Amino acid sequence: MTPNKGLHDYVNAILTKKKIDKIDKDNSFYTRLMSNIDSIDHLYREIYGHGDAADNMYEQLINTLIEGYQNRSKELKERDDKKAEKGIWFLSNELAGMSLYVDRFCGNLSNLTQKLNYFEKLGVNFLHLMPIFESPEGESDGGYAVSNFRKIDERFGNLEDLLLLRKKMQEKEMYLMIDIVLNHTSYHHEWAKKAKAGDKKYQDYYYMYDDRWLPNQFDEKMPDIFPESAPGNFTYDEDCKKWVMTVFHKYQWDLNYRNPEVFREMLDNILFYANLGVDVLRIDAPAFIWKETGTSSQNLPQAHTLLRLIKQCVMVSAPGMALLGEAIVAPKEIMRYFGTESFTAKECDFAYNATHMALQWDMLASGDTRVMLAAQHEILQKPFGTTWINYTRCHDDIGLGYDDYMIEHAGKNPFEHRKFLKEYYSGAIWDSPAKGALFSSNPKTGDARISGSLASLCGLEKALELNNDYYIDLSIKKILMMQAHSFFLGGVPIIFYGDELGYTNDYSYLNDTGKSYDNRWMHRPIINWEKNKRTDDTNTIEGIIFQSIRKLISIRKNLSVVADHKNLTWLTPYNHHIAGYLRAYDDKKLYCIFNFSDQTAYLTWYAFKEHGNYKPLLYDYWKEKEFSVGLDNDYLVIEPYGFHLLEPRD
Ligand code: GLC
Repeated sequence: MTPNKGLHDYVNAILTKKKIDKIDKDNSFYTRLMSNIDSIDHLYREIYGHGDAADNMYEQLINTLIEGYQNRSKELKERDDKKAEKGIWFLSNELAGMSLYVDRFCGNLSNLTQKLNYFEKLGVNFLHLMPIFESPEGESDGGYAVSNFRKIDERFGNLEDLLLLRKKMQEKEMYLMIDIVLNHTSYHHEWAKKAKAGDKKYQDYYYMYDDRWLPNQFDEKMPDIFPESAPGNFTYDEDCKKWVMTVFHKYQWDLNYRNPEVFREMLDNILFYANLGVDVLRIDAPAFIWKETGTSSQNLPQAHTLLRLIKQCVMVSAPGMALLGEAIVAPKEIMRYFGTESFTAKECDFAYNATHMALQWDMLASGDTRVMLAAQHEILQKPFGTTWINYTRCHDDIGLGYDDYMIEHAGKNPFEHRKFLKEYYSGAIWDSPAKGALFSSNPKTGDARISGSLASLCGLEKALELNNDYYIDLSIKKILMMQAHSFFLGGVPIIFYGDELGYTNDYSYLNDTGKSYDNRWMHRPIINWEKNKRTDDTNTIEGIIFQSIRKLISIRKNLSVVADHKNLTWLTPYNHHIAGYLRAYDDKKLYCIFNFSDQTAYLTWYAFKEHGNYKPLLYDYWKEKEFSVGLDNDYLVIEPYGFHLLEPRD
């Protein structure tokens, strides 16, 4: 982009007005601002164009960036510098995360500060706190309906508690991730309340219509997100007598980013979070932030422009904070959240590896790796410098969102295959070991997603009911194999709380009217700290799982080859029950081999020779033993749901 002198003079004038000394101590900010301002201008104008309103808001936007930087503490600026010294800090193999609901995990933020040693023991050094800002009880969507972006919900404590937690975490070299719910607010947010009361300014913050003319046009192409519990995309508001866009639940009002003021306000909130010391900001539901009649209103180019604009602004004011785009969309679409063309690796730094997560569940049910392999040419397109959140479970459902052609490529019928997976995990197949449930079944399309905890979907709940040791053992093997598979793929692994101990489904949500309509609550457990005391007792299921996860994390932290160098190669599928990938960097290699079937599987030793430079021995970090690489017509024998982490050695 050619620098625009007029623009630079304009920004200099604002800086002078703000008394920012560009030569002196704010030099790094000044440099960042000037080197990004052309992109910021270009992206802003692409959406908002010129004109009095847009120009006025533009000046305010630059002021927001300046204030965002001025409000950043010295300590956080130093932390930004330290991160920059590490190169791209979040590609490291030393990160291992956990995602948790503060209240369900341990009550509140100050209790969480007392629990940091629990994470240390496990090796977890990155925490994703599920939404903690104010959200009305009963109409909160697990905190994703925010009524105040600046006030911690009283249930969790207050801002001081969060700051103390962050301070203690940073002392222990831990990282913090929280959400910005960008797409909507609760209808109890003050903007929504003012809009309800008839204030025109705030009605322009949302999509509000007097009649059904435009809502009908939107509805024609927009899919239902929660077809069972919240069908349709608009809700009639009796107070202001208008139709309001509510893509998620009726209490979540969609923000209208056509209004530059909405963008500026939300950017201000983003920088507020940055200055609380957030290391990774999870941008909730970014696919939805731009709506257009005649389209699905998901993944639109303008949504990407807005995300790029956010990224460039954050790079200026809070360069140490990375962005995660929570886009749970088709594989090709996910990739676009990392940025394209001149913005490659300049949009979101992280995305969820949602396709691979779902494909792991596909492999586990079918014992067949072919659909997963058919998807890899797309997944591997991720640009260098960006990374994945790898996971097996999170607070949401599992969507089988990969493309039909991937299933066809594996020689299967997409409709039948998806039907099988849904029946397998919801337990509709009588001999399925899994105990989950269908989430958001759409009778119009036949689509459904899957709820259930890692342990229950892997068969532990049923095995315990049957009191069958063999099945218990098998389900533990599955749990560990699923986790191991995702830990070494490259990216930051995030464990969902409770899964480190094998928590099965919790059905108590059915007794709570604020939750019973949403079966995702079955896999959001309330932690029982008596049970959690069993972490060290390997005679218990909890102890076995905890210690094994601990070991996997420590293996990961010791092997720099598994940092995200974009260095993953899938092994030739000699045996389609086995998913094998090679991580290779400099002169280091690690073969990660997983048997997704309930039968013993055999892998030719040739698999370890075909990438050249082969060594006669393989050290298994998981089993802590050495194998000699045999003849090509001989095999590595892998037990049902077993896995190996093998490093070639002389
Ligand atoms: C994201 C969250 C999900 C929530 C939705 C609406 O997808 O992960 O839990 O329901 O956004 O905010």
